[in-house]
Order: sequence, then structure tokens, then C-alpha cells
Amino acid sequence: MRQFFSVVAFTLLTIGFFAGFSNFGIPQIEPAPPPKEEKIALGAMTMEDFIALGERIFKGKGTCTLCHNPVGGRAPLLDQIGKVAAKRLADPRYKGEARDVEGYLHESLVKPSAYVVKGFGKKGTGDTVSPMPDVSGGSIGLSEAEIAAVIAYLQSASGVEVTVEIPAGAEPAAKAEKETAGEGRPLYASAEEAMRELGCGACHKVAGEQGEVGPDLTHIGAKRDRAYLRRAILDPNADIAEGFEPDQMPPDYGEQLYAKELEMIVDYLAGLK
Ligand code: HEC
Ligand code: HEC
Repeated sequence: MRQFFSVVAFTLLTIGFFAGFSNFGIPQIEPAPPPKEEKIALGAMTMEDFIALGERIFKGKGTCTLCHNPVGGRAPLLDQIGKVAAKRLADPRYKGEARDVEGYLHESLVKPSAYVVKGFGKKGTGDTVSPMPDVSGGSIGLSEAEIAAVIAYLQSASGVEVTVEIPAGAEPAAKAEKETAGEGRPLYASAEEAMRELGCGACHKVAGEQGEVGPDLTHIGAKRDRAYLRRAILDPNADIAEGFEPDQMPPDYGEQLYAKELEMIVDYLAGLK
């Protein structure tokens, strides 16, 4: 009888194992649902999702990595920012209103000149004016919910406590997932749209934007011909505009733009007399 039970138990276990294996162990080959534009249901998000959202915004829509990257050194790296922020608050040069790390990060994003990291200020201002745009305005235009997600990401990535709360019922940030690069995206309809999506205005005065990092492009067509402009976009280090440094402008626009869009931008800039 005992033997009978152990045989039954063994059989059940074996069946159970294979049933479980076929359910969970073998990857499903159901077709994936078609990709859809991200509507952020903030209510249904875990903190992990929220931090991941912040990372996508940091690298995508927020255009933060245009400047905050290890190449070029045009902006400080942010991998330790959670710890650095505490020091900023104690610095006598700090003239903002933040009381904690979260507050400092929020202020850095919407009022960058409240504290300007030494050596990174706008030229000729003695580090009192930041060249970083207010990321809640202009072409970047992050909502409060998106800013909160970016702060959560920065806190998490720099190893400090994430103090941000997931905002309830905030404006859904439907465009967060929009990629600037890559195949399969529709053509930008105009030079202005292309430049908005590619973040040119974060660094340049152009198409209504007020970037401070690169040369003013509002009359660029009076100075430069089409061949120069095309080269300036495809290979920014080929000529360095007077008074500026190399390695500041992203070198990969050639990979992000369809040829037709590049020509639209070149035409647009050449027409700015
Ligand atoms: C056009 C270039 C540019 C863009 C785009 C940009 N930044 Fe900055 N950022 C800077 C520069 C330059 C500084 C240093 C000057 C200062 O302190 O404001 C800075 C400073 C900061 C600081 C304070 C750093 C410190 O050590 O105290 C934070 C935080 C920050 N940026 C976050 C962001 C985030 C997040 C984004 C995207 C949503 C972003 N930045 C987009 C150029 C940029
Ligand atoms: C992260 C900052 C940054 C971004 C983003 C950026 N640029 Fe620039 N750009 C610069 C800097 C700095 C210079 C000057 C140094 C040089 O000539 O490479 C420059 C130079 C130029 C010049 C040459 C100006 C001259 O007088 O010689 C053109 C044209 C230009 N950029 C167009 C663009 C366009 C179009 C975009 C978007 C597709 C763009 N830039 C995005 C920083 C940027």
C-alpha cells in the first residue's frame, strides 16, 4: 500500500511538473499586441515602473543626455547627483529655496540658475547663469508628473532614497515613449518639427527656442551656405564656430535624420538671413 501511494505521488508530481513546465517554462508564442502610444495610467504604476518611466524620459523626450553624457563634458554627470545635491544645499553659493535632495533636483530642472555648477555656467556670467533650459517649458515641455518620474530615476540611479511620490491623477504624459531616432517613425512634417523633436533648441536660439549652449542661429543663413550647414549638422567637429568648443554638439544626427529631413533643415537654416 505504501508503495502504491509513493507511485501515485511520483506520477502526480511528474504530471504536475510537466504541466507546470509547459505553462511557465516554455515561452509563449502568442503574437505581441501592436505597440501603442503610451498613456500613463499613474494610478496603476508601481514605483519601479515610475522609475523606469523616468529613465525613458531622461534618455528620450527630456533630451537630458544631449548634454548630460560622458562625451564632451558640456554638463556635469548625474550618476552621483543624489549625494551631490546634499552638498549643493550646504554651499554658500546656493541661492535657491530647496530644503532637501528632491527639492534641489526639482529646482535644478525648472530653475537651473538657482545653483550653477562651477565651470558650467554660461560664458561671461561667472557661473551665475546656467545654459540649461527650464525643462518644463519650450520644446522639452515636461509635465509635473514627468518631472517627478525623472527625479525618482535620478534618486534611484544615484543610490539614495527615492522620496518622490507617484502623483495621483496628474496629466497623463502620452508622448513619453516617443522615440527621436530609428526606423519606422513617420517623417517629420517640417524643419521646425524636426528641430523640435531633435532638441536643437535646447542649445541654439532657433525656431522660437532660446538655447544658450551653441551659436545663435537666428541669422545663420546670412553667414553660412548650404554645404557648410549640412556639414555642421552631419559632422559638427569639421568646423568649430568661433568662440565655441568641439565635441559639444551631438555627432549622430546623421543617423537620426532621413535625408529629406536633413535637406528641410538645411533649407530652413539657409533661409534665416
Ligand atoms: C542644453 C544642455 C542641457 C540639457 C538639455 C539638460 N541639462 Fe541639466 N545641466 C546642464 C548644465 C550645463 C548644467 C550645469 C550648470 C548648472 O548647474 O545649471 C546642468 C545641471 C543640471 C543639474 C544640477 C547638477 C548639479 O551637479 O548640481 C541637474 C540635476 C540636471 N542638470 C538635470 C537635468 C535633467 C534631468 C535634464 C533633462 C530633463 C537636463 N538636465 C537637461 C545642461 C543641460
Ligand atoms: C547639446 C547642444 C547642441 C545641440 C542639441 C545641437 N547643437 Fe548645434 N552646435 C552646438 C555647439 C556648441 C556648436 C558650436 C561648436 C561647433 O561648431 O561644433 C554648434 C554648432 C552648430 C552649427 C554651426 C553654427 C556656425 O555658426 O558655425 C549649426 C548650423 C548647428 N549647430 C545646427 C544644429 C541643429 C540643426 C541641431 C539639431 C538638429 C543642433 N545644432 C543641435 C550645440 C548643439
